[in-house]
Amino acid sequence: MRTVASIDIGTDKIVALIGEVDTYGDIHIIGVGEARSKCINRGTITKLGVAARAIATAVREAEEMSGHKVTGVVINVSGEDLRSQNEKDTINISPSPIEIEEEHINRLLERSVAKGKEDGFEIIHAIPRKYTLDNQEGIEDPTGLIGSKLTAQVHIVKAPTTLIGNLEKAVVVAGFTPTVRVVSALASAKAVLTEEEKENGVLLIDIGAGLTDYALFIEGHPVVTGSVPMGGLNITKDIAFFMKVEQEEAERTKKENGVAFVDLVREGEIIKIKPKGEMREVAVERRQLAEVIQVRLEEILEKVIGEIEKAGFKVDSANAGVVITGGTGNLQGIKDLVERFTDLPARIGIPTGVIGLKERIEDPKYATVVGLLKFAVSPEGMVSEAKAKVGLSTNSSGFKDIIEKIKEFLREIL
Ligand SMILES: Nc1ncnc2c1ncn2[C@@H]1O[C@H](COP(=O)(O)OP(=O)(O)OP(=O)(O)O)[C@@H](O)[C@H]1O
Ligand SMILES: [Mg+2]
Repeated sequence: MRTVASIDIGTDKIVALIGEVDTYGDIHIIGVGEARSKCINRGTITKLGVAARAIATAVREAEEMSGHKVTGVVINVSGEDLRSQNEKDTINISPSPIEIEEEHINRLLERSVAKGKEDGFEIIHAIPRKYTLDNQEGIEDPTGLIGSKLTAQVHIVKAPTTLIGNLEKAVVVAGFTPTVRVVSALASAKAVLTEEEKENGVLLIDIGAGLTDYALFIEGHPVVTGSVPMGGLNITKDIAFFMKVEQEEAERTKKENGVAFVDLVREGEIIKIKPKGEMREVAVERRQLAEVIQVRLEEILEKVIGEIEKAGFKVDSANAGVVITGGTGNLQGIKDLVERFTDLPARIGIPTGVIGLKERIEDPKYATVVGLLKFAVSPEGMVSEAKAKVGLSTNSSGFKDIIEKIKEFLREIL
């Protein structure tokens, strides 16, 4: 059986998964490893050796559990400098309608990708959203259909070249080869969203420790993808500041007694906290804690909605509502807060669609790493892996020349 591996490099934790792919393409998870994140801040490596060691610790644990050695890994990319855009392009294929071939589609996509190129940035995803064949709109896949003019709308996601380079370097120093890169929001989306939700319109929000990754899907595909530099760590720091406690105590209080929405707390309800520099606990109103949390969460949601509007889209086009992932998705009352704030239905996204060690990964904070593993077996993931194997970077310009090599490679592994 083919083995696949993924690493989610987060601000709070690093998680590694190893899976085996059966003949039906289903993934059986056989190894999980987790380490505290060190020298990784909001998607950026701040000290190479230390970050690499933390990555290696997580992967080694997964290797020991599975009894498999890892080489190639799927990794996530995120950070506040992530950018997304939508491009539209048309090519004339022939004066009279002929059969559309893969080569036509590749030529069209390459042109859209060229439009998305920007100095200092690398394109991570170029996702065709919609095709129009002559005047026929809403074509899913034009291959084999007949037409004379083909239009595509493509969603492009890119990240700073330096950020990706340093992240990959940390993974290489840790002893592994990054094969596929996926932005965190799209990885989480892959782990938790249903096809129906994506089709109806859905907003995925992954609230981690340092970042809130988001992706808005309309008619099956992402239209805005990004990340705001704020998350659960900001909530913890706010609690420490306003309630005058150490950060560690603030983190404990948040997890044990935190509520995302003030209205959910009974008036007069009391909790105990240990103020900074004191030995004894004191009683405080739980509503006070909820208030601190709610204010920060509303700021995060406001930022996400603001970014989506800046890109020219409306959050209320997410008819299927909001799906929340990331560790902060465990916060009591977060679903209610998101529903009230956005006026849309909300649910917590627990990763699904993989076999084995289910109870170990049933937490919204594992959505990214599970989604990364799913990317490893998806067609787009396999093409990237094939390019890596033939020694070409995923943004190589000699795209056409290597298509044959890729096909050969895919035939080998499928
Ligand atoms: N039960 C809980 N209640 C409230 N917050 C929680 C709970 N469990 C975890 N968290 C918070 O979730 C955050 C970690 O989430 P996650 O593991 O998704 O982050 P990460 O992926 O490491 O970081 P990032 O994606 O931001 O780089 C922490 O801030 C932590 O305090
Ligand atoms: Mg994360």
